[in-house]
Amino acid sequence: MFLGSIFKSTPLILSTMCGIIAYIGLKRREAPRLLFDGLRRLEYRGYDSWGMALIGNPSIEVHKRVGAITEARFLLNNNGACFHAVLGHTRWATHGGVSEKNAHPHLDCTGRIAVVHNGIIDNYLELKEMLLNRGHVFTSDTDTEVVPHLIEEEMKSGKSFGTAFLEAIRKLEGSYAIISACKDSRALLCAKKDSPLVIGVASHGYFIASDPVGFLEHTRDVIFLDDHELAVVTPESVSIFNFREEKIKRKQTHTIDWDLERVEKHNYPYFMEKEIMEQKETVVRAVLQSEDTIKRVVDMFNNAYGVFFVACGSSYYAALASSYIFSKVDRKHINVVDASEFRYYRDFITPKTLVVAISQSGETADVLDAVKIAKKKKARVLAITNVMGSSLMRLSDFTIHMNCGPEICVVGTKSFTAQLAILELIAHALMGKETEVKNAYREVSRGIEEILNEENRTKLDALAETIKDKEHVFCIGRGVSHAIALEAALKIKEVTYIHAEGFAGGALKHGPLALIEEGTPCVVFAPEDETYDDIISNATEIKSRGGMIIGVGSRDHDVFDNFIRVPSLPFGTHLLSVVPIQYLAYRMAVLRGLNPDKPRNLAKSVTVK
Ligand code: F6R
Repeated sequence: MFLGSIFKSTPLILSTMCGIIAYIGLKRREAPRLLFDGLRRLEYRGYDSWGMALIGNPSIEVHKRVGAITEARFLLNNNGACFHAVLGHTRWATHGGVSEKNAHPHLDCTGRIAVVHNGIIDNYLELKEMLLNRGHVFTSDTDTEVVPHLIEEEMKSGKSFGTAFLEAIRKLEGSYAIISACKDSRALLCAKKDSPLVIGVASHGYFIASDPVGFLEHTRDVIFLDDHELAVVTPESVSIFNFREEKIKRKQTHTIDWDLERVEKHNYPYFMEKEIMEQKETVVRAVLQSEDTIKRVVDMFNNAYGVFFVACGSSYYAALASSYIFSKVDRKHINVVDASEFRYYRDFITPKTLVVAISQSGETADVLDAVKIAKKKKARVLAITNVMGSSLMRLSDFTIHMNCGPEICVVGTKSFTAQLAILELIAHALMGKETEVKNAYREVSRGIEEILNEENRTKLDALAETIKDKEHVFCIGRGVSHAIALEAALKIKEVTYIHAEGFAGGALKHGPLALIEEGTPCVVFAPEDETYDDIISNATEIKSRGGMIIGVGSRDHDVFDNFIRVPSLPFGTHLLSVVPIQYLAYRMAVLRGLNPDKPRNLAKSVTVK
């Protein structure tokens, strides 16, 4: 009923884990260029193929390619043609192999309706069967292709594009951010459930994208869509409808504080290097949380009975590292759970539980799933995220913003250290010592500067050259450094493709020692704390089996073949020790001829389970 009124008042002329972007507006001639630039900006999310649909009169032009977007600039030589809407997609294959036919956009049988999709349609097989029985012809192996055919099927009975789109969306189960255009319509339509979608409000029109980075050079004013919302976007207006509540929604426009500066490489060859170097500022920004924020967070911890930290990948390691700090500083046990495993603990969750969800992107599907389970159990949810307006932020009771600016390199560096800094701040704030931490982080910042000064970078470069062709690298540590070792190994394996593994120092003799051979590099995190003597003894065990020992800490030792000095500080020491290994991993990747910003098979936002 409500939708009818949207569609009446709006003249309707109008699968994966990936990036989607569309534009509709006054820049009809430049539209392909805007789309192309937007797709390039979204590259960092990870992709293996890409495509675009240019909606003009009388037809839709579709271009698809496997591989890098740069290969096909010639496609934009459009001889001054105008397009009333454009939509594009970077695909990271989930359903259907990497091929041109599986790249988006997908069209219906008539070639009038184009669709791009991020997410997974769980019931696509049954929908496809129904559509095949009705004579539809499919040209790809994707789940997404059911959508344009469903819209087409609905339109056969005389429904408008808008109503047909709504009916099609209602048939979908799973996760989706979908944008669709029809060559006879003046609007772009989009809808979302469990995958991010944001509308950019520019002076000359509107963008729709999975991520504001796609249109940041045109506007920082955005409308975040929530689950079950459908938007009708014309060159002049946006109307939003919640199709579950059957209600028209009035949504606020937010101005995001990211700027273009932060998504440009400037003089750095790779974002990874730029983001490693930025850490001297980002760790300080991370702890500059307002008094009010700290008070809210402290209250949440104090009122909880049972605390879970849930996160994935590097964010999980940040959570694990901090759990040792909470134990020491606050005598508090934290249950640290990989977000994908959280659902199996759900029987243990009560309304008194505090779930702290840590996610750079705020879009990781496993983290969102954990949060939804926690909410069902009426637990309180605190988010720590870097992306304002992210799904995680909108699902949580309260959010701490990491403030480290867009992280473009697929592998996390500055987000990991920002998370560590915030978690250390909270651990001490529970004891009323937040001001000490805030002040101390200036010194942490100077520590990062020292670790990454020219002389030290040259030494790390030489070390990278020495170990860049090794088959295995091992990293060990105890206590907080155990988690740092896991993170260090993750960095090395992600960007170099060398087998790297992290272990607790004490775990070696229970099996992993069998892997040590003559010259196997082993990074030993040896801060001057209670773990020093024991980790040195573990290093000695490795050395006596022929391992090459790379010590990281403030006190050198005879067992180290190579020593990376990091300052010892009252706060933030563990955070400092990961920084040289980030840089080492980066240099190893570059020396191996790899692009560390876009490791194979990986995506920045893991929006599928
Ligand atoms: C590692 C890395 C990933 C992410 C993980 C979680 O360098 O980037 O392991 O840490 O995918 O991502 P977020 O923090 O966005 O939930």
